Amino acid sequence: MERMIDRTRLAPGRAAGWALLAMVAIGTFWCALTVLSRRGGPAPEDLATGPVAALPGDGPAASAPTTGSRPATGTATATATPWRPPRHTARQTERDDMVRVIRLHWRRDGTTEGIEPVAAAMAAVPRHEFVPADVAAAYDDRALPIGYGQTISQPYIVAEMTRLLKLTPTSRVLEIGTGSGYQAAVLTHFTPHVYTIEIVKPLADAAGRRLRRLGYRVVDARAGDGWHGWAAKAPFDAIIVTCAARQIPPPLIKQLKPGGRMVIPVGRPHMTQSLVLLTKDADGKVRTRSLMWVGFVPLVRPSESK
Ligand SMILES: C[S@@+](CC[C@H](N)C(=O)[O-])C[C@H]1O[C@@H](n2cnc3c(N)ncnc32)[C@H](O)[C@@H]1O
Repeated sequence: MERMIDRTRLAPGRAAGWALLAMVAIGTFWCALTVLSRRGGPAPEDLATGPVAALPGDGPAASAPTTGSRPATGTATATATPWRPPRHTARQTERDDMVRVIRLHWRRDGTTEGIEPVAAAMAAVPRHEFVPADVAAAYDDRALPIGYGQTISQPYIVAEMTRLLKLTPTSRVLEIGTGSGYQAAVLTHFTPHVYTIEIVKPLADAAGRRLRRLGYRVVDARAGDGWHGWAAKAPFDAIIVTCAARQIPPPLIKQLKPGGRMVIPVGRPHMTQSLVLLTKDADGKVRTRSLMWVGFVPLVRPSESK
C-alpha cells in the first residue's frame, strides 16, 4: 500500500499511464471477443444459419412481401461488405454427390477455370429447401418443378452460369427469374450484392421468405418484369437471366457496367436455346458468344404471365 502511494506521489503521470493502459487492455479484449463471436460461434444446427455478419439495414422483415436486407442505396459502387453465407448441413452427402456430377460435366468440357469456388457454393446451398416437399430427388442433376409451371434449373447449368459471371466479393449481380431463389442463394456465396426479380408474384413472395428463413438475407428480391432490369440498382457487374428471351433485353445491356458480363439463354420459347455470354468492354463495346444449347422456360411479359 505504502509503495503504491509512494509511486503515485513520486510519479504523478504514471497513474494516468496505468489507467490508460488498463483501458486499452479492456478495449482490446472486447474487440477480440467480438471478432471471435462473429467468426466462430457455436456449431450451427442442421439448417440453422451460421454466423452471419450483420449488415447495415438488417432488421426484421419489412412491409414489402419480398425483401432483402440492405437498404436501397441506388449507388453504383459496391464495397466489400462483411458477409458470411449461412451453413447448412442436412443432406450434405447428396450435395457432395451432386457436385461430383457437376465436375464430370466440367471434365468432359475441359473446363478448369474458376470451378473450385463454384463447386464449394453448390456444395453449400441446400437445394432440397428450394423444391416442394413432395418433389423427390432434389439433388438429381435435372430441372425440377416448383409450381406455376416453372422450374428450378439443372444444378450443372446453375453452376456453369455462375462460373461464367466471374464474380468477386464486390460484384453487383442482377438475376432475372428468381423462381425458387436457389440461384440467388448460390450467388451470395460470391457477393452479398445480389438483386433478383421474378414475374410470378406468388413465386417471388415465397422465394423472398425462403431466402430470409434460410439465412440468405442479403438477397434483394422483388416481383416484377425483369425485361426492364432494375434501374435503381444499376449498373451491375454481372447479369444472369434464367429464362429464355427471344432477344437480349436492351435495358439489361444498358444496365451492365463496362467490363461486365451477362449470361442469358436466347431463342424461341419451348425450343432449345443458345446460352449466350455477353461482355461489355471498358469502352462499352458489346460482344456476344454462344456457348451451348440449353432449354429454359420462356421470359414472359406481364400481358403473357396472367
Ligand atoms: C428456370 S426458372 C428460374 C429458376 C430460378 N433461377 C431458381 O433458382 O429457382 C425461370 C423463372 O423466370 C421467371 N420469369 C419469366 N419471365 C420473367 C420476367 N419477364 N421477369 C422476371 N422473371 C421472369 C419465371 O416465372 C420462372 O420463375
